[in-house]
Amino acid sequence: MRIGARLVDQGMNGTSVGHVSHSKVGYINRIIKKKRCTRRISRHRALPFSMALQDLFLACRDIFKGPGTVPPTEDVQRLCHILDKMRPEDVGLSQDLQFFKSKSTTKGTPRVTNTNIYKCDNFSLCIFFLPTGGVIPLHNHPGMTVFSKLLLGSMHIKSYDWVEPSHESNGSTTSSELRLGQVKADTVFTAPCNSSVLYPTTGGNIHAFTAITPCAILDVLGPPYSQEDGRDCSYYRDTPYTTNAALNDDLIRTMEDGERYSWLEEIDVPENSQMDSIEYLGPRVIETGRH
Ligand SMILES: [Fe+2]
Repeated sequence: MRIGARLVDQGMNGTSVGHVSHSKVGYINRIIKKKRCTRRISRHRALPFSMALQDLFLACRDIFKGPGTVPPTEDVQRLCHILDKMRPEDVGLSQDLQFFKSKSTTKGTPRVTNTNIYKCDNFSLCIFFLPTGGVIPLHNHPGMTVFSKLLLGSMHIKSYDWVEPSHESNGSTTSSELRLGQVKADTVFTAPCNSSVLYPTTGGNIHAFTAITPCAILDVLGPPYSQEDGRDCSYYRDTPYTTNAALNDDLIRTMEDGERYSWLEEIDVPENSQMDSIEYLGPRVIETGRH
């Protein structure tokens, strides 16, 4: 991503996973390591395993068919059902970790951290850690279906879908780079809560996260971001829609009464989209042979 793919790629290449530059995020890493260490010391038990995570992995492998495909409704429901039941412990997390207890905000822009559980051409599983005040700025998911499950914390989500047809304004008050987005969510989510789904053109494909408390979000992306395949991440600035903007008639007819709209303008990669990456040390998925 710039939000996802790059970090995920780093994870797959093993080039930077585990390097942590932010002290608070590093604390997460230490805590997770300590937890594993304790388990090892306490006895030679089997490696941590989560049936829920394994179920999720196997379902993803079954459901995601690659670029250009969107899972049918029954498969979306199957994945949601698995995700809805998942707990922080299924990916090695706990409310008791110091990161999630912290109430203070850090100086400057709080950095977001990500960790990669699994990635293949058809889908990826990753977790984002947002400290209080941390932001994943407004970004899109081109051609992707994305499941998000807030595992811990409280988070504000704002999301948009493009208003179609994608007419540009024809007046002098707006630039041709502006496109109209319809607000799909503008809500605070608090864990435990059900998962949410976005699709290539519906469900709030363009979204932003702002952490109200320290958060962990499990994301399932199908397919993952890929610059080579034309699924790079774009970022946007939103400006509330004003009725005095000149619009062509087709667009006015498309807009629905009672809905909220904003102008979305693509922007350069924002500074607060930069993330740290840490190694995933929770329960592993097991790549069993296909049936
Ligand atoms: Fe996203």
